[in-house]
Amino acid sequence: MFETLTREADDPLLALTPLFKADPNPAKVDLGVGVYRDDLGRTPVFRAVKRAEALLLETQETKAYVGPEGDLAFIEAFWNFVAGEGRDAAGVQTVGGTGALRLAAELLRRSGSSRIFLGTPTWSNHSAIFQAAGLSVVTYPLFDVASQNLLAGEMMSTLADRAQPGDAVLLHASCHNPTGAVMDDATWAAVTEMILRKGLVPLLDSAYQGFGTGIESDAAPLRRLLDQVPETIVAASASKSFGLYRERTGAVYATSPSPATRDKLKSHLVTVGRGSYSMPPDHGAAVVRTILTDPELREDWRTELDEARQRITAMRAILAEGLSPLSPALAAIATQQGMFSLLPLDERRIIELRQRSGIYMPLSGRINIAGLNSGQAPGVIAALRAHAAR
Ligand code: LMR
Repeated sequence: MFETLTREADDPLLALTPLFKADPNPAKVDLGVGVYRDDLGRTPVFRAVKRAEALLLETQETKAYVGPEGDLAFIEAFWNFVAGEGRDAAGVQTVGGTGALRLAAELLRRSGSSRIFLGTPTWSNHSAIFQAAGLSVVTYPLFDVASQNLLAGEMMSTLADRAQPGDAVLLHASCHNPTGAVMDDATWAAVTEMILRKGLVPLLDSAYQGFGTGIESDAAPLRRLLDQVPETIVAASASKSFGLYRERTGAVYATSPSPATRDKLKSHLVTVGRGSYSMPPDHGAAVVRTILTDPELREDWRTELDEARQRITAMRAILAEGLSPLSPALAAIATQQGMFSLLPLDERRIIELRQRSGIYMPLSGRINIAGLNSGQAPGVIAALRAHAAR
């Protein structure tokens, strides 16, 4: 029976890492998967994470199951980190931000929603997650690579023309992946108004909080939307903000003004999790809970996250200056936010850059700015300028 299967293609983004590792070029640069690196090219474990882990090693008395919804203190502290204090939500710990998106999709389907609107380009895994849960994906152009402009008008007109009550709309809470484009306050207000007018459900993907302009300021648009829209879903990841990538730590939250509805929402999220992996893993959530509930660890973590963001901002300025002679639009790299920007390069040039200069990026032209350090920046700029001119 198994021989009837056809082979699935490798994930093109994740496949870059082994290709990069196998490249003997000593000057190679990895601008692929979204992982933060410091100026020496390392992805260090946050100091606060190390200290929280030491504390857990010393004090944890059992590895017995935590429970189907996960670590309740983590779920609450992480929600306060994302949404601010004082908001009610049905929350469940998940297997990373991807697990949160998958549970969100299942919840939408169970609630009678059958379509989700995605602005393109978006994270390369979004469509697959939603389709695997049985939702149909409706896409619309959201970003023009040549001009580096967000196509807010296209988003609004697509939603106005095509969205029906009960449809979901995916919004990147901050630090848009893959473009870094910033949605201004007026566009957030217009989308919120459209969501309310048409009876749509916003699904906020929050995976890079703290990497834009700050922990609180990055969450401000999401929090304003939560103030205005009664029924929302938030999928939140701790992978980047706490540097816990491989620990697969995240949570999904659904809001409703009714306590009885929140109880039902939570029961559905738990049931979907139970039917998929039974219970979420503990370690990463225990680390985040320990950090967020200890003022000293929290302060230390915040300082380190601030430093990471400042390093990315500095790299953005250098890249923007170095690449603007190619196209004045690329000056926008300096004001885009988060780990990524999207370069107007065709696939042939991207493969050439890989083979001739050891610069690795996905074929979309997305670059992980957090993967670049000051030693490599001049060489990367020179190679991009040379290849783009070819
Ligand atoms: C990315 O976009 O590079 C990260 O979110 C890693 C992933 O799983 O794709």
